[in-house]
Amino acid sequence: MKIRKAIIPIAGKGTRFLPATKQIAKEIIPIINTPMIHYVVKEAVEAGIEQIIFVTSSGKFSVEDYFDRNLELEAYLERNNKFKELELIRKIGSMVDVTAVRQKEQLGLGHAVLMAKNMIGDEPFAVLLGDDIVINKVPAIKQLMDVSMGNNGASVIGVMEVPKSDTSKYGIVKGDIVNEKTLRMTGMVEKPKPEDAPTNLATPGRYILTPDIFTILEKIPRGAGNEYQLTDAINVLCMEKDVFAYRFEGERFDTGNVHGYLDATVDFALKDPETRDKFVASLKIRLAKYGIQL
Ligand code: UTP
Repeated sequence: MKIRKAIIPIAGKGTRFLPATKQIAKEIIPIINTPMIHYVVKEAVEAGIEQIIFVTSSGKFSVEDYFDRNLELEAYLERNNKFKELELIRKIGSMVDVTAVRQKEQLGLGHAVLMAKNMIGDEPFAVLLGDDIVINKVPAIKQLMDVSMGNNGASVIGVMEVPKSDTSKYGIVKGDIVNEKTLRMTGMVEKPKPEDAPTNLATPGRYILTPDIFTILEKIPRGAGNEYQLTDAINVLCMEKDVFAYRFEGERFDTGNVHGYLDATVDFALKDPETRDKFVASLKIRLAKYGIQL
């Protein structure tokens, strides 16, 4: 069955990005001039997703509004012959069909995904975390969709290799090797110490899930942090059905924390021919100013 819908949970508090997130949605914070959520939605759209379901909380209207038309701004740009900008703004407003459901209490990622149950119905779907950007020619989520298609529509969890010393920052998968990039999962461990980690394959926030995950999410108790964890539900799913972990191609930026955000900003500024030269010149000046030699 074709995967048409994607859930993007954005209801979290974004405490690592305070004070900005006191007043604005973390996902609207731009990498240079483009909100981080734009890259996540673009990935889904380029993978063929037709409907995005944001799981939101109070104060997140700006994310839905960003993907809506802004007729007043369009008229202004037209009146002032700013046609390049007009085209850009119109494109964003018609990028994809967007809906939103509320998560009234922030009870964890598993709970957030469950909030979209009625919007999904009985079909497989994608989940992308709104503060994880993955850059690749073939979108990461499309790679997972293809693996799912090739395995009778099974659930597929995107994984990336991390240094063994970093396993305690991530959910880490375990399972049996199918091929160089794929495991048949037997479970997941939340933030294991390096010596306890079954692999060094971490789950950065890209999932293809079958709708039976909802029945599991409705039953599981609260887990780590007293929250309903998607990891716990995936562990149950692994016992009932085939679940694969797939090492996707792509560069991932964790823009939910300040370091990852800076890393993405520097990378994007160096990659873009429009910003590269002036940015490099600025960097040279700043490095000299602070006495930093590379
Ligand atoms: P994070 O753990 O990154 O939480 O959630 P956060 O609130 O965004 O950020 P910090 O840790 O306070 O800085 C991972 C993803 O799950 C969503 C978040 O919005 C984020 O995209 N989430 C988390 C929800 O939608 N609801 C929840 O109850 C928890």
